[in-house]
Order: sequence, then C-alpha cells, then structure tokens
Amino acid sequence: MAMTGVLRPGHAQVRVLDLEESVHFYRDVLGLVETGRDATGRVYFKCWDERDHSSYVIRQADSAGLDFFGWRVLDKATLDRLDADLQAYGIKTERIPAGEMLETGERVRFTLPSGHVMELYAEKTKVGNGIPLVNPAPWSKARDHGIAPIRLDHALLYGPNVAEVQKIFTEVLGFYLVERVLTPDGNGNAAIWLSCGQKVHDVAFAEYPEPGKLHHCSFLMESWDQVLRAGDIMSMNTVPVDIGPTRHGVTRGCTIYAWDPSGNRFETFFGGHLPYPDYETMTWTFDNFGQGLDYPQRKLHETFLTVVS
Ligand SMILES: [Fe+2]
Repeated sequence: MAMTGVLRPGHAQVRVLDLEESVHFYRDVLGLVETGRDATGRVYFKCWDERDHSSYVIRQADSAGLDFFGWRVLDKATLDRLDADLQAYGIKTERIPAGEMLETGERVRFTLPSGHVMELYAEKTKVGNGIPLVNPAPWSKARDHGIAPIRLDHALLYGPNVAEVQKIFTEVLGFYLVERVLTPDGNGNAAIWLSCGQKVHDVAFAEYPEPGKLHHCSFLMESWDQVLRAGDIMSMNTVPVDIGPTRHGVTRGCTIYAWDPSGNRFETFFGGHLPYPDYETMTWTFDNFGQGLDYPQRKLHETFLTVVS
C-alpha cells in the first residue's frame, strides 16, 4: 500500500485541571517524554518511539476534554489539496500559522459535525527516538520509565452526526470504514472505526447527544505482556481503571481503559487485525456490542457508554 494523503494521528491537545499533577502523571506514570513548554503554558509530550517533536499536549483549564486532534499529512501539497477538498465539500477551514504550536508547521483547522476540532499539518520537527538511524537498537533507555507506550495510536470521540462525520472521513480525507456497531434498530451506525492506512483504526466515533466529547486517547503498547505491566503500574500509582485488562471484539485489540487525574480517559492498547482498504466492513449488532467491547466478559460496561470528558 502506498501511503499518501493523511498518514497518521499526529497530536492531541487535552485539557487538564492541575498542570503539574498532570505533568507528573503523563511523564512519570504513563511514561511519555516531555519535549517542551510554550509561552501559553502548554506542556508537550511524545511517546519514546515517536520521532516527531510531540504527539500529546496538555494545557490547564477549568474543565477536562479535548481541544483538538491533529493529523500528519504527507507533505505541503497534500495539505493544500485537502484544505481545498474540505472547502469544496462545504466545510469551513482556518489556517493556524506555523509556530503556534512548538516545532509545528502551518495547520489547517476545521470542525466536524460531531463538534470535534480536527487539524491537518505537514511539518513537525523530527527529534528522533533516541535510537540511531544507522545500526539501530530495538529500544532506547526511555522505554524503562513508566508505562512507556510507543505511540499515540488513535482516539475514540463521542458526538452527534456520526453519519456525516463518516462521509467526511471516507469521501474527503481518504479513510475507510473497518468496523461498525449498528444502532439498536439496525438502521444506522452507533459507532464507527476508521483507518487511513493498515492499522485497524486511526480514529473512532460514537453517536452521542453532546458535541465534542473525548472518550479516550489510546497509546500503543508493544505486547499483551506490556499491557499487563501497564495495569501493574496503574495499580502501583492508584490510577483509576475503567475496564480491563481484556480484549475487544471490535478490532481484536487488547486493552486497559483508565483515567488521568482530570478524568480524561486513556487506553493502553496492543494488537488488532490488519485491514486493507478493499476489505469489507465488519458489523456488530447492538445486542452483541457487549462482546464487541469486552469479548471475554461479553459485558457492555455502563461507563463506556456514559463517561466522557
Ligand atoms: Fe481505543
């Protein structure tokens, strides 16, 4: 598969209630690498194996939640083309100048009908992963600090108008629908999992009356063993765990859901099947969504449906 267009999730900016408590959590418990602070007080992090300057940014605010989610696109020409394609589709876009985020180029910002703010960008300074590009070792010392996921993998977002969101991602941004959960009446999609490459998903949306809500940002682990180790570290640090360790039926991924100190849910995730764009979408009926969420327990956890930030 030739990767063009939107390449991957790039960055999430998340609101926290107490900045320094959150810095401690994300740096020392989750084990992200702090890469900078800007004049507005935002703190920037990356996962140890990511090469770009930052993938997760926090700022202090009165309420938790997601400010925006950014996508890395192939190059500047792709950024301009997607901006034009979004406008032609009828979506208003805005240019955020280079440097507004540390070490990040110009961004194209737009709001989905679900109320979520999305961004596209083509440039972010490559700071590397601590491993040389010539004769690279399989991991660096940074892997030994905290849970230490290897990358920001995806987000699940809750909001209205999921059918319209699906059209924008599939008809304008080049994503394809990997899995879906039907509404109870079977006539629509209650939740959708979308991929822009060969990952099982890069973003997911669930229908929800309130716009712009964050269900979770997900961090990729290297193995099921590492997910279990993440659970140990969560317990050692009294991190409130929501679900798991267990395995999703949807995506087949192994998971723990837990909350940061501000009530933003995050996930430590491993695995998932590897789809191609020509694969047919897999469908879960709503009455079986318990298996889709938690395959061993077949349980539709109440918090999954109701707790967002
Ligand atoms: Fe997830």
